[in-house]
Amino acid sequence: MTPAAAQTENLTRMQAEDFEGIAERIDRALKNVEELADENARMHALGLKTAIEDFHKFALTKIVQKLKSDERGKELLFELVDEPSVYALLQLHGIVKPNVGARIVQVLDAVRPYMQSHGGDVEFVRFEDSVVYVRLAGACSGCSQSAVTLREGVEEALLHNIPEVKAVEVLPNEPTPALIRIESLAASKTKGWIETLAVEEVPAGKMKCFQSETANILLVNIDNRLNAYRNECPHQGLPLDGGMLEAEEGLLTCPWHGFKFDATSGECLTAPAAQLESFPLRIENGRIFVRPA
Ligand code: FES
Repeated sequence: MTPAAAQTENLTRMQAEDFEGIAERIDRALKNVEELADENARMHALGLKTAIEDFHKFALTKIVQKLKSDERGKELLFELVDEPSVYALLQLHGIVKPNVGARIVQVLDAVRPYMQSHGGDVEFVRFEDSVVYVRLAGACSGCSQSAVTLREGVEEALLHNIPEVKAVEVLPNEPTPALIRIESLAASKTKGWIETLAVEEVPAGKMKCFQSETANILLVNIDNRLNAYRNECPHQGLPLDGGMLEAEEGLLTCPWHGFKFDATSGECLTAPAAQLESFPLRIENGRIFVRPA
């Protein structure tokens, strides 16, 4: 990496930390205000917060309207919205609507405590052609009356709250672990497996994408452990291969809006329900084979 690129990377990381630090500070301050024993003081403090927010919303709306009215301004606005802190600010004031993926995650997060209290859980897989694909766990899987009720609850919450959602599909749970240590596996080819790259083409600490006829696959090597994911961020379905891979931390950051993922498991650290879709992977004669869903 060139010194300039390293500097840019450091700057990006510092900005992300600053943003998270400020967000935490706001959460703490708000919690302190909400816990004020003196009701009068609490009402005044919350009133001040609302007044400041209204003022910011008023001015921000003017800025966005002005930018939108000009072609170059529009371009700048789109660039700005890609910055997570700007996106969060505009979203907070209702100036940009969260995208469908983020709203699906929010709805599932809202129903999750109820499902967990009944021994179940739900995982968002992807949104495609107006259909939300989910996986269900625990008491939600199976065909008991309570499982059916929980499934219907998820479906109703999504259909009711997100107009873009026309149907909900439950995917079967995948029993095959995605993570396989690099070693010689003498398994014969079976239906559905496709040959991708040579092992040495994806060295430790790197990721590469491979476009097959049926899927765009992202191969990630952390500490000589390979994983295969669908090359699609669950946030807005955009490709992840231009993102930043921090091998030591095992972190993959989406290049579009900065969602962070555990590169070894696909778990999303920004919105825990928005996991990467992983594919089974095996090595044979130095070649990487993947079985896309
Ligand atoms: S597409 Fe928005 S964070 Fe990845």
